[in-house]
Amino acid sequence: MKTVLVVGSGGREHAIVDALSRSPQVSRIYCAPGNAGIGEQAINVPLKDTDVEGLKAFALENKVDLTVVGPEASLATGIVDAFRAAGLAIFGHTRAATAIESSKEFAKELMARYGIPTAAYRSFSDFEEALAYVSARPFPAVLKYDGLAAGKGVVIAQDVDEARKALADMLLDKTFGQGKVVVEDFLTGPEFSFLCFVDGSRVYPMPLSQDHKRAFDGDKGPNTGGMGAYTGLPFLTEEDRRFAYEQILCKAAEAMVAEGLPLSGVLYGGLMKTPQGIKVIEFNARFGDPETEVVLPLLKSDIYEIFEGVALGRPVSQPEWADGVTLGVVLASKGYPGHYEKGYEIRGLEQVEAQVYHMGTACRNGEFFTNGGRVLMVVSGGSDLADARRKVYSEVAKIQCDNLFYRNDIAHIAFE
Ligand code: AMP
Ligand code: GLY
Repeated sequence: MKTVLVVGSGGREHAIVDALSRSPQVSRIYCAPGNAGIGEQAINVPLKDTDVEGLKAFALENKVDLTVVGPEASLATGIVDAFRAAGLAIFGHTRAATAIESSKEFAKELMARYGIPTAAYRSFSDFEEALAYVSARPFPAVLKYDGLAAGKGVVIAQDVDEARKALADMLLDKTFGQGKVVVEDFLTGPEFSFLCFVDGSRVYPMPLSQDHKRAFDGDKGPNTGGMGAYTGLPFLTEEDRRFAYEQILCKAAEAMVAEGLPLSGVLYGGLMKTPQGIKVIEFNARFGDPETEVVLPLLKSDIYEIFEGVALGRPVSQPEWADGVTLGVVLASKGYPGHYEKGYEIRGLEQVEAQVYHMGTACRNGEFFTNGGRVLMVVSGGSDLADARRKVYSEVAKIQCDNLFYRNDIAHIAFE
């Protein structure tokens, strides 16, 4: 029987822990640092997800068979390189390979070189040159800071003034650090997420999903980490899926092998169905959050088998997925993604007849309290989206808390 360590503390890691708990081979799951909900299915370990030395020592001492890394910040510390050097099996990309997410310029060059469809672009390190280029082109302008910026590195500027301010932040003030900007064409169309398990050039697809980034109904309000997600996207055909798989995800995996940076974890294609076909908006080198919470409940295969195969570079059988769809609603603290208060009691969780993934909760004397911006995600399956939506919202209504809000229109595109 196997012992697994999951690194991270959000809803994504709760869904990973939950999937691992269904594996017949796994007898013990640790999660570092975990959260209150994860603590019901795994043993939380009070180590930060970027404390590579601490995590490595823990894995060695506790005879961990396999470590699974959730957050990009952990991958960026080089946790995979450090674990492998110590002879430990770990699911996640090397630090060098995470460049496909952490450097916009690297990702754009890779796509240009290997013919992967994406918006045309140019990159700049000089403020005046960037501003002159942007000013001479149609708006809106898409400006992307070249580095990990915790989701804050993309600005869609509507006019020259907005562009000047964003470029100054990115290139002059060094707010973000190193100072390089990718300017790309503005694309339109519905966005979706295509997550695959990738081991070199072996690419195992997961079901397609769609995130809802804006805080409020009707895609209004500020951008968030994601307020809900679902599978079973009504606007994509099987042909779209095949195109995205073959021409984008598989090509990107092959390109990384050719560059000497083979992937060994999740490759996440943030894609858009534009009038000119499916194009890449961004790549991420990790599971998406909240997409993971709606995708992994559909997995019928043993996830340990997949994680271990990818970690050790061994082929595995094609993962099997349940029929039907899933839909998940995030409950967030009022005020999120801006200022919010923590510590509100959450009642009624024991009555919920759906999967509840904890994103930011604390537990005291058996009671749960809010402890983050995004707090819970309730996920339900269904035969179709109307079925899943009806079930999920009737379960969400059972949760009582004075300081939570959620969107009422997850998967709205299917009902318009
Ligand atoms: P990213 O961090 O690259 O995912 O960008 C954040 C968001 O900005 C995306 O989810 C899109 O909604 C939007 N975005 C990024 N690039 C483009 C583009 N080329 N055209 C239109 N919207 C974009
Ligand atoms: N759902 C967006 C992300 O994980 O980056």
